[in-house]
Amino acid sequence: MNNPTVGAGVNPSELLDRQYRDSKKLEARANLHRRYGRSDGPDWFVWTAQQANLSAGAKVLDIGCGPGWLWGAGKAGFPADLDLTLADFSPGMVEAAVKQATTADYYAHVEGVVADVSHLPFADASFDAVLACHMLYHVPDATVALKELRRVLRPGGIIAVTTNAEGNMAPLYALGAAAFGGAASDPAADIFGLHRAKALMEGLFDDVVMTSVDGDLNVTSAEDLVLALTSFPPGQDADDAAVAHLYELTKAAIAAGGGAIHIPKTQGMVRGLAPR
Ligand SMILES: C[S@@+](CC[C@H](N)C(=O)[O-])C[C@H]1O[C@@H](n2cnc3c(N)ncnc32)[C@H](O)[C@@H]1O
Repeated sequence: MNNPTVGAGVNPSELLDRQYRDSKKLEARANLHRRYGRSDGPDWFVWTAQQANLSAGAKVLDIGCGPGWLWGAGKAGFPADLDLTLADFSPGMVEAAVKQATTADYYAHVEGVVADVSHLPFADASFDAVLACHMLYHVPDATVALKELRRVLRPGGIIAVTTNAEGNMAPLYALGAAAFGGAASDPAADIFGLHRAKALMEGLFDDVVMTSVDGDLNVTSAEDLVLALTSFPPGQDADDAAVAHLYELTKAAIAAGGGAIHIPKTQGMVRGLAPR
């Protein structure tokens, strides 16, 4: 696959410059879930917080924290008095995440650090828990990153990794492939899907357990779907004609679906413990 933002072909400076300097492109994708997600499902961030099963007062690293939505929207799922280090290789994301977690007015301590998951500026055994949410598909070598996360965890400390399941949101990616070419599947899940995450983590951590949550989107706006599919490659580099083609394909799919495109999704967590 030729996608410079995920896995072995990753180009870190392009990823930072074109996708994650701030949260705008991530926002285009998140909007699809916020606006069109099934309302009776669990809130993703509260579910993530609960599944991580942290202890009160734990010293926690969130690497690839993005704008820190987990610490705002998910706060009801976390125990009291957490000491947070929010880290990302994008300074704009770190700034937004610190603001989000501080505004939540719930955590004992919040600190931001600009850092790359593959070379963390922390001593061995610095944290009781590390979270890496929807970010390990961006790194050139997930095993290197996971070993680095194991290094900074105390023995018996918790690692919680979230990602998309293989086969996630297939109708969305089929539309993208029809307009822009490339694979008709979720590039993140192709590189670091839930089952691959579990297999890699079983070789590095103890008591590894995978959990997942299913959901649905019923997308009624062609504009919102086009915005999401042009927020990452190959759509972010597409010319006007290809984007117009996607718009027409999407409008036709919405009409064929009786006013909405139904998109099933599955994402989840792999949780384990650093060896004692
Ligand atoms: C899809 S977002 C996920 C944000 C957040 N964890 C969430 O689940 O909402 C991926 C984040 O990982 C960050 N990232 C990508 N590669 C990274 C790396 N090598 N080291 C640290 N952060 C990275 C990006 O800047 C971005 O904020």
